[in-house]
Amino acid sequence: MAIPEQMLSETRSPAAGKIPRHVAIIMDGNGRWAAARLLPRVEGHRRGVEAVRRTVRACRELGIGYLTLYSFSSENWSRPPDEVGDLMGLIRRFIRKDLADLHASNVRVRIIGMREGLDPDIGAMLQEAEALTALNTGLVLVFAFNYGARQEILAAVRQAASAIADGRLAPEALNPETFARYLDTAEIPDPDLIIRTSGEQRLSNFLLWQAAYAEFVFTPVLWPDFDRAALESAIAEFSGRDRRFGGRRAAGSP
Ligand code: FPP
Repeated sequence: MAIPEQMLSETRSPAAGKIPRHVAIIMDGNGRWAAARLLPRVEGHRRGVEAVRRTVRACRELGIGYLTLYSFSSENWSRPPDEVGDLMGLIRRFIRKDLADLHASNVRVRIIGMREGLDPDIGAMLQEAEALTALNTGLVLVFAFNYGARQEILAAVRQAASAIADGRLAPEALNPETFARYLDTAEIPDPDLIIRTSGEQRLSNFLLWQAAYAEFVFTPVLWPDFDRAALESAIAEFSGRDRRFGGRRAAGSP
């Protein structure tokens, strides 16, 4: 039997053991970081952007292929308008300030999530980030922005259903691989490791389909404090896990 694609997805580095090909992060705890310092929440988000920069650099240095960051969920619109405005402002500033550096570092930017409902200037900036970096061959940096996994899955179901109705797809041809092509993450391998910061232990509508065989690491570190050491410690934990993808260990292995 062929070896499942996921089992081929990790590389080994002498320094850090098994390195996941795709790391996805639920960046949580910005508000608590700020509250603990009697600072406004926006300060936690600002420091969160610095943690994004550190994490992108660390992933590049460690040779990770894909980094997905849960930056704004479909449900985040329910936050007070001031906070939503602050988060949109930070995204705008991040793209304006960091896009050239990301491009120079050979990073390819991809965006998953719904473009509808975004301010037109943000939509245009996201498109520009993807277009400018489309041919880069280094780290693929995926921003989940205005993203919700249930919405993503439903949109994919709608597309697959219409392909079947039009006769472009035979019902029997619909399987996990063909279905995944309709998801926003088409051509992005499933995450090997999902990290959530701040001690919370849930997926919050993040990559529900893609997380089927991911390893989870929950760390108490608040997102603004996340750094290379915290990333390496999550990778070390991942490295010690026995991933079987529903199968069994080979006979004779420990
Ligand atoms: C969760 O903290 C974090 C968010 C809702 C947004 C994450 C956004 C950033 C790190 C900044 C912008 C990102 C980019 C990519 C430039 P929380 O507010 O839910 O924290 P809490 O649970 O402690 O209140």
